[in-house]
Parts: sequence; structure tokens; C-alpha cells
Amino acid sequence: MKPKVFVSRPIPEQGLRLVRESCDMKLWEGELPPPRDVLLDEVKDIEGLLCLLTERVDAELLDSAPNVKVVSNMAVGFDNIHIAECTKRGIPVGNTPGVLTDTTADLAWALLMAAARRIVEGTDHVRAGNWKTWGPMLLMGQDVYGATLGIIGLGRIGTAVAKRARGFGMRILYYDIRRREDLEAEWGLEYKDFDALLKESDFVTIHTVLSPQTHHLISEREFGLMKETAVLVNAARGPIVDPEALYRALKEGQIAYAALDVTEPEPINMDSPLLELDNIIIVPHIGSASYATRGKMAEMAARNLIAGLKGERLPTCVNPEVYGE
Ligand code: GLV
Repeated sequence: MKPKVFVSRPIPEQGLRLVRESCDMKLWEGELPPPRDVLLDEVKDIEGLLCLLTERVDAELLDSAPNVKVVSNMAVGFDNIHIAECTKRGIPVGNTPGVLTDTTADLAWALLMAAARRIVEGTDHVRAGNWKTWGPMLLMGQDVYGATLGIIGLGRIGTAVAKRARGFGMRILYYDIRRREDLEAEWGLEYKDFDALLKESDFVTIHTVLSPQTHHLISEREFGLMKETAVLVNAARGPIVDPEALYRALKEGQIAYAALDVTEPEPINMDSPLLELDNIIIVPHIGSASYATRGKMAEMAARNLIAGLKGERLPTCVNPEVYGE
């Protein structure tokens, strides 16, 4: 008998095919995530869960799923999963690092460029029929070439953003809890303390994990340190930026622009005052959304799931302490 698993949304076929081959799969076909009560019911007799960052995997869910042997998250981030609760129960948790690094860095770069050169406002201007002539003062923005970039969090994605910045002749600053002298030398980066990075950067881009330490890492005090011409990019996790402080900073001109792939909450409330501003770009958490990358993520998530069901070590496990390490 094949093990019962629940897959919480249609994912690319590259992954689904693998799951179907080796599991008795129940697939939630909805466009929206399964409602909480449905999810709690669906996991009752499963052995494996393949979920997305929209599912909260906590003690309540794990208590509802006493037979679960593995949780496989189709994302690199896993702040939706209570890792300690999984570890306590001996459940390995998988994620999908590496395959989405460059795709997410591309998106962060697209946001940075679009904000600097006011691409979305330009498109709106044309569509609204306001393009009457070449305007010497029309839609002026910030130069990217030669500017100073501040990277918060020099992990895989932060480093991939730094590589792109080299091609733009930028001065590249970074802040991380770990100094990376190897990467400094390789990519010409300067380590700065957090406040100095905020003060000196023309573009600040966030690539850190969401944790209690990074929750609202960028708030009123931090906006106060940034340049009035600064652009803030967030393609990491929404709650790293305090949305109320961001609204005030954009409205009062403490910074010039923000470009977000992630918000708090997600999806953003349609009555959020951020949506009334012209100097913000918001896209719906699409950092890893290329066809190729989403296919690879689905396959990786499937392989983690299947390994866990067989009692084998997950190819990419975020809590190796379950293996006694
Ligand atoms: C997306 O945000 C991910 O963590 O993969």
C-alpha cells in the first residue's frame, strides 16, 4: 500500500508526477489554500505533508496528524513551520534551497530597477493617455549605475544580488550577523554595521530570514537613518518591514520609494494605505516564480517528501537534529 499524503495546492507536474508515482496522494485543487479546518481534517490519517508557505504547520496541526513522518515545504523559507514542534515529534522538515536563488535575485533586481526608474508609474502614465510629449522633467528617478547598494542578509540570495550589482558598477555594502570575508574579497563587498549601511545606501535590499530578531527590523528608527532619496526593496518576508512605519516614511518623504514582493499581512489588505501611494511597487510574492524554478522546487519538495516517507534522510532538511545531529 502506498503511503497517504496531502499536497496542499496544485504544483508543477515535475513534482506531482513523482508524488503520484509513490504515494496515495490527495491534492487540494483550490486556487486558494485549504481553509484551516479543512487542512486539519485532511491531515488526520496522512503520513506525509507537502505544503506551501501559506500553510501554518504548528502544534495544533501536528497533533491532528499523528501519523505524519515528514513535512516538505515547497519554499526555501520555513517561517510558516514550527520547527521545534516538528523536531520534538521526530518529524524531519524539508525546504527547497539553491534552485530559486538566482530567480529570486532577478526579481529583487527587477524591483530595484523598476523603482529607481519609475517603470510602473511610466506604464500607468501611458495607459492613462497622459503621454502628450517628451518631457524634460517627466518621471525622473534615481541612477542605479554607480550608486551604493546596501544588502541586509548575505546568504545565497543576498550574494546573488551582489553579483548583479557588480555589473552596475555599484559600491556594495552588506550587513549580516556573520561577517563573510571570503565573499567580501570575491565580490568586492564592504561590511558595515546596520546603522551605517542604512545611512550610506542609495538602495537597501533585504535578504534575511524572518525570525523574532528580524521582525520589524526596518521600522521608524531605521527609516529615520535612511537617505531621503533611498529605495527600499523587500523580496524576503513581509514582516521584516513595519508597514505602518513604511507608509509614514514614504508619505513624509523620509525615503523616496519602496518595492515589495512581500507584505505584512499577505496578501495585503485592499484597504492598506500603502496602496494609495504612488512611490511604491507591490507584486504578489513572485520571487521564485519562473517556470523553470517552480518546476525544480516542486521536484525537490517531492523528493524530500518521498525520502521522509521511506525513512531516508531528506536531501534538504532544515532540522537535521531529528537525525541526532
Ligand atoms: C519563497 O518565498 C520561498 O521562501 O521560497
